[in-house]
Amino acid sequence: SEKQSVLPENFLWGGAVAANQCEGAYLEDGKGLSPVDILPDAAHGRWEALEHPMKTLETKYDFYPSHESIDFYHRYKEDIKLFAEMGFKCFRTSICWPRIFPNGDDMIPNEKGLEFYDNLFDECKKYGIEPLVTINHFDTPVELMKKYNGWKDRRCIDFYLRFCDVIFKRYKGKVKYWMTFNEINMILHIPFFGGGIDVTNEENPLQTKYQAAHHQLVASAMATKLGHEIDPENKIGCMLAAGQTYPYTCNPEDIWKSIEKNREGYFFIDIQSRGYYPSYSKRFFEENNIKLELHEGDEKVLRENTVDYISFSYYSSRLTSADPQNNSKTEGNVFSTMKNPYLQASEWGWQIDPLGLRITMNEIYDRYQKPLFIVENGLGAVDTVEPDGSINDDYRIEYLREHVREMKEAVLDGVELMGYTPWGCIDLISAGTGEMKKRYGFIYVDRDNDGNGTLERSRKKSFEWYKQVIASNGENI
Ligand code: BG6
Repeated sequence: SEKQSVLPENFLWGGAVAANQCEGAYLEDGKGLSPVDILPDAAHGRWEALEHPMKTLETKYDFYPSHESIDFYHRYKEDIKLFAEMGFKCFRTSICWPRIFPNGDDMIPNEKGLEFYDNLFDECKKYGIEPLVTINHFDTPVELMKKYNGWKDRRCIDFYLRFCDVIFKRYKGKVKYWMTFNEINMILHIPFFGGGIDVTNEENPLQTKYQAAHHQLVASAMATKLGHEIDPENKIGCMLAAGQTYPYTCNPEDIWKSIEKNREGYFFIDIQSRGYYPSYSKRFFEENNIKLELHEGDEKVLRENTVDYISFSYYSSRLTSADPQNNSKTEGNVFSTMKNPYLQASEWGWQIDPLGLRITMNEIYDRYQKPLFIVENGLGAVDTVEPDGSINDDYRIEYLREHVREMKEAVLDGVELMGYTPWGCIDLISAGTGEMKKRYGFIYVDRDNDGNGTLERSRKKSFEWYKQVIASNGENI
């Protein structure tokens, strides 16, 4: 007899990618440059390049991982067919902004770019797969950085809204689930990815980042308004790079430190979900010499247009201590954190903490009481292709199984959850390192770090596992 499922019947199982990490075809059909398109791989200084993008723009590298990537632009039909075979109910991808507006500030959209996404969404619909679309996933056109230093400039709000207006109208009836900005808090950590900004010559980089964040928050609220007007069926969400920060000890100093760290991320969602700047931001701005320029009407727009749901990525928890002597560091890139002695880490130093997902979900839900959506989760790992062609990624199955288990616990705790889309459901280029080797997929792509390979797709062991998870609505893990 069928076991009663913990998860709702309409639970949105699927997978997630982003245009800039899988499409390739970087100049095809009139596309302009995306931030990733000017970046080299890890071996050639990707981190340095991310920190000084204007300088990077002038540097000529031998190899750019994103230019061809996994060629999703030409192979999406084959890939979606495989997603359908796994039983996907939804598929998260992003619309590449410079494919639609190559310079960002163009008046007329690029028809060829729009056609691509028409075809892509139609292909999803063919299999009953609901598209889940990130409007800006690390994809502020490079031209906007050159001309305006990206989101530092308030005019980006207008450019972004023009983009939103075009895609909301064009894909009305095809797309219902939207996210305004991927990992909006990332602007504090990688301003080039988050906002097309170079902070190299900024007097007070923190001021620049928070001013840019204000522009994005206003843009997000305005887009939410616009999206609801164009189609009342639209569900528009925010997206947080989540992962609770734990205190290292029960020393109250550590507890306080962890509160501050958590607020760093929640700051954004507090505004997007509650509709106003949190009270603690006042002191933070004063102490960091941040003076935000607000326009008349900004506060009203924020207040009146909060998000419908809260989506987030979760890879790991984090750890902090008030004592500078406690300076152990994981290798993890963006959110390099203290080593937690209770946790194991991935080959890239990302600490693995399934219970941390339950903790994070409960924290977010308690704070906002809006439906949650896990739109990224997964393990970046090296895969080995056996002589018979099989790929036995038991470590990935193990990681995902434990996270699905805790996700269900959170639902039993009372958290309202819309769906689950593990990251990189097909292998793609890592955002942080530019590597292919750091694979997340259920589907293997034959391509290496240097761009060699046939690009052929094959099913990993986790493919069959995930298929059965979906078929049993999460009961058979
Ligand atoms: C998230 C991003 O930060 O983590 C993705 O939204 C990214 O774009 C993912 O790919 C995993 O990080 P990485 O560096 O392993 O690609």
